[in-house]
Amino acid sequence: MLFQRRKPLDLILQTAAKRSLSRQLGAFDLTMLGIGAVIGTGIFVLTAVAANKAGPGMMYSFMIAGAVCALTALIYSEIAAMVPVSGSAYTYSYAVLGEVLAWMVGWALILEYAVAAGAVSVGWSGYANGFLAHHGIGLPDFLTAGPFWVEHIKDQGAVIHMVDGVTHKGGFNLIAFLLALLVTWLLVLGTSKSAKVTAVLVAIKIIALMAFIVLAFPKVQGTNFEPMLPNGWGTPLSGVGVLGAAASIFFAYVGFDAVSTAAEETKNPNRNIPIGLIGSLAVCTIIYLLVAYTAIGSMGAQPGGPLSESKEPLAFVLREIGHPGWGDAVGFAAILALPSVVLMMMFGQTRILFTMSRDGLLPDKLASVHPKYKTPHVITWITGIFVAFFAALFPVDILADISNAGTLFAFAAVAIGVMVLRRTEPGRARPFKTPLIWIVGPLAVAGSALLFFSLGWNPTIKFFCVWAIVGLIVYFSYARRRSHLAPGNEHLLHGHGDKLDADPLVQEGPNAGP
Ligand code: ALA
Repeated sequence: MLFQRRKPLDLILQTAAKRSLSRQLGAFDLTMLGIGAVIGTGIFVLTAVAANKAGPGMMYSFMIAGAVCALTALIYSEIAAMVPVSGSAYTYSYAVLGEVLAWMVGWALILEYAVAAGAVSVGWSGYANGFLAHHGIGLPDFLTAGPFWVEHIKDQGAVIHMVDGVTHKGGFNLIAFLLALLVTWLLVLGTSKSAKVTAVLVAIKIIALMAFIVLAFPKVQGTNFEPMLPNGWGTPLSGVGVLGAAASIFFAYVGFDAVSTAAEETKNPNRNIPIGLIGSLAVCTIIYLLVAYTAIGSMGAQPGGPLSESKEPLAFVLREIGHPGWGDAVGFAAILALPSVVLMMMFGQTRILFTMSRDGLLPDKLASVHPKYKTPHVITWITGIFVAFFAALFPVDILADISNAGTLFAFAAVAIGVMVLRRTEPGRARPFKTPLIWIVGPLAVAGSALLFFSLGWNPTIKFFCVWAIVGLIVYFSYARRRSHLAPGNEHLLHGHGDKLDADPLVQEGPNAGP
């Protein structure tokens, strides 16, 4: 009985049909959208974390994480073209796997989106603080990192971050905190992304990474790749080695699923959604591998070495290999472009929470809309304040790993859902069919599970388990009986469809998303 409560697929599709967003986005726009959401703190910052875990073997880590995402992109292409609605993995799961699992997926997506927004804010602050320090107006050390940062580095047995012989002691990451609040405020005012701004920021990121590759390539030396696997391949739950680094660097790919949420606004979704999902992933993977190769080859990437300790590793490498001006320029590109990733992640979070409260699973109050700006301001402020405190207090690698745990859980749920749907509704129209689903599907689930268990027990998986238990308690004590699908609440379900016509999030124009 527990898994019986499902939101019928046809009801979800009817709702989507009522919204009738204009179908304007083509394959190119979607690819840009994907790249815009994907390239961020992962490559610009976590390269250092990956080096600390795997050394030069992080090349393999980038390949493994990319492969898991490629399998998932094929799966998402099928479901997104078939159920072209917003709400992402939560909505798909509600139709296929039932309410309790959908709730757990939505609960895990809070980690994917809100915690990721915190991680990207912290990553951004590494570059912003570095930039200020290089211009003689750096903040006191206490305000450049959260209190858990030094502790964490000590735990791993690595060298404590030193600059000019002074040990950094974190306190409150002021600039990451302020960025998160600024983005929140922009979202409340109704800033969404525009296709033009996205395209400009994508161009800035790609040019910066290409410049890095071109400048670092001539300095590549074979000896910098030795030893290739200083920490080995890694064992489950250990969080180190190639697999541990793959689980962390997976963060660099997170966000490509943003493409799937624009399905309702896409021309020819059966063709363009798979191109957008797989195209953006392919472009990012190639760029990431080249960046990783040139960073390792030009600078060395042994655990505990200088690269692995930098908070702005790409700028740092360029400065060290004799291009300080370019180092500053790449840092500046990160400073310009990363806030848009924070914005997309927070936007995704508010939209998912909004959908969950409209389904009755969270309090109605959360879905209230600002009278003037027509944005879900209550949810946005709550999300933003949480994100700001995560960003102020925690180090980027812990936040990224926790976000990855939530994302991998959602990826596995969607892959299972797509396979279940093949069995339960074989006749339903599928504009795009995942090729070799009975190979791709199980591999996607296995890959997500492998990365999940490679995250390391403490603190990531432990935190995830606590989070999941809290989620189940909230579901059974509150959400289950408040649900619009609960017995006695059917009238709300019908009201729900009407309410959607006035959905403020949908009225933001053709570029609304992700
Ligand atoms: N993939 C995004 C980033 O690396 C979340 O910032």
